[in-house]
Amino acid sequence: MIRSGARKTIGHIVTHQRTGNTIEFEPADGVGTYVTNCDLASQLGDDQVNSLKQALGAYGVLFFRNQDLSPEQHIALAECFGKININRFFPKVPDHPQIAEVRKEPTQQLNIGAKWHTDHSYDQIPAMGSILVSRVTPKRGGDTVFANMFLAYDHLSDGLKATVNQLNAVHSSRHVFGSGVEGSERFSNADNATQDTIHPMVISHPISGRKALYVNPEFTIGIDGWNKEESTPLLEMLYRHATRPEFTHRYKWRPGSVAFWDNRATWHCALNDYPTETRLMHRITVEGEALHA
Ligand code: SIN
Repeated sequence: MIRSGARKTIGHIVTHQRTGNTIEFEPADGVGTYVTNCDLASQLGDDQVNSLKQALGAYGVLFFRNQDLSPEQHIALAECFGKININRFFPKVPDHPQIAEVRKEPTQQLNIGAKWHTDHSYDQIPAMGSILVSRVTPKRGGDTVFANMFLAYDHLSDGLKATVNQLNAVHSSRHVFGSGVEGSERFSNADNATQDTIHPMVISHPISGRKALYVNPEFTIGIDGWNKEESTPLLEMLYRHATRPEFTHRYKWRPGSVAFWDNRATWHCALNDYPTETRLMHRITVEGEALHA
């Protein structure tokens, strides 16, 4: 099993016996790994898919450069990893409802995903991962910052680990995608933003078994069975801790960039620092499984 640590580790290489293809992984500081020698537009073999899955479970995010993916190839890639979840709130790419559009135009003030979050934690069965492809990148800015929830958990004290290991948290979408929320006019189906759900605050990662902190500032609304006065200070402390710089990596998008993140192991936030430019990304979300402590 591959494990990622707080320090940059030496890259590893996986050669696939059937094809002779060699995928190279160069871990990033904080979270994620850069992946080279892997053409995402080609039909990936089972062994390549398996290597990428293992790397996702270990590093949390896969970063790719210089890819040339059509919408159809983006869909075919996602289907190698599971069933596509058609997002009920996001605008869709015309003729490709499987792909959600993450767009900000120069006339818009707010961007999508500006607050730290993990996608779909408000679902009973949260998404496994999301594959984001850059389509229009601003000349400067528009980076995405990722945070490592394995490291966030590992670096809690034993005392706090013992406490959070026993707790569940409540997650919701209604304050983000529900009607009347600022910026929600760019989303659809506000009436569907009703599904609050409860997950363990610490999960065993479905691929690696490693423990990860599973609360996030955008969608977690409280600790189950605790009142707001009790739960807000603990959650805020965990949020400050989880975004320590050494647990994060800032990914700069270029034409041809792709990031594939595991929603159970990471958070992300999209920076809103390109006021006069357009940024357009295509996102596909892959379904996951129920989460357990
Ligand atoms: C998202 O939050 O899913 C989008 C992230 C981004 O646009 O960088």
